[in-house]
Amino acid sequence: MKRLKDKVAIITGGAAGIGKSTAALFLEEGASVMLVDINKEKLQSTSEELNSSNLAYCVADVSNPADVERYTSETLSRFGKINLFFNNAGIEGTSSSLENYPNEIFDKVIAINLKGVWYGCKYVIPKMVEGGSVIITSSVAGLKGFKDLGAYVTSKHGVIGIMRVAALEFADRNIRVNTVHPGPVNTQMMRRIETDISPDNTEEVKKGFEAIVPFSRYAEPIEIANLVLFLASDESKYVNGSTYVIDGGLMAG
Ligand SMILES: NC(=O)c1ccc[n+]([C@@H]2O[C@H](COP(=O)([O-])OP(=O)(O)OC[C@H]3O[C@@H](n4cnc5c(N)ncnc54)[C@H](O)[C@@H]3O)[C@@H](O)[C@H]2O)c1
Repeated sequence: MKRLKDKVAIITGGAAGIGKSTAALFLEEGASVMLVDINKEKLQSTSEELNSSNLAYCVADVSNPADVERYTSETLSRFGKINLFFNNAGIEGTSSSLENYPNEIFDKVIAINLKGVWYGCKYVIPKMVEGGSVIITSSVAGLKGFKDLGAYVTSKHGVIGIMRVAALEFADRNIRVNTVHPGPVNTQMMRRIETDISPDNTEEVKKGFEAIVPFSRYAEPIEIANLVLFLASDESKYVNGSTYVIDGGLMAG
């Protein structure tokens, strides 16, 4: 029996990386999926690649409340209900010390990673059916500090607060809200971070990150998608308000 049979899911940041991998898994498990992303070209190519009649997409900026209301209403018009919400879109910002961190980049990271998640919870969850599940993508950077990643660390700590409030406020409708906290994952985000830190030595930077992971490697997006699937499925129906670390042991040290 498919684990998400007849469920309807919204996935933000769905055109690439963790969101895309999760979309493919959700479709395999019987869900209908609305992919939301700011990048129209990537949305089109991802939709062609996933090639399913149960898939639709919406070009939207998660930091714009009007866009969030629009992707919510487009999902309801296309699929008739919302059971699952993977509130996942995010950006990394730049690598810079706190005292030198550019204010405009700080504002952009907060707008997308923190306010985008807030708007998603504000506009999507009230439209979800009872028994639904919301999964927010935080990071190991939501649980500990990392030098030179101040805006990202701040935003990823902040979404835990949103998750805890939403978990309490929507519990009477049996809607569960949890966060996932990956360590480094093999997506374009890590390629950009590696290049930002040292454009001529990206392999060395990657080795440096791998060295802080006890498994000595990045996660693959499908490994994160499998945890998101567990939290989306009824197998986790008593799990609410929790933080799920998936990091190859990084936080253990
Ligand atoms: N890759 C990692 O190592 C890692 C680790 C921990 C947490 N995360 C988190 O996982 C989530 C997904 O990251 P990823 O690695 O798949 O990155 P990615 O860059 O591969 O994919 C992110 C997607 O989000 C989209 N996006 C960016 N800004 C948007 C906006 N304003 N509105 C709508 N869509 C927008 C991008 O176009 C892109 O398709 C992010 O929240 C990220 O912070 C990633």
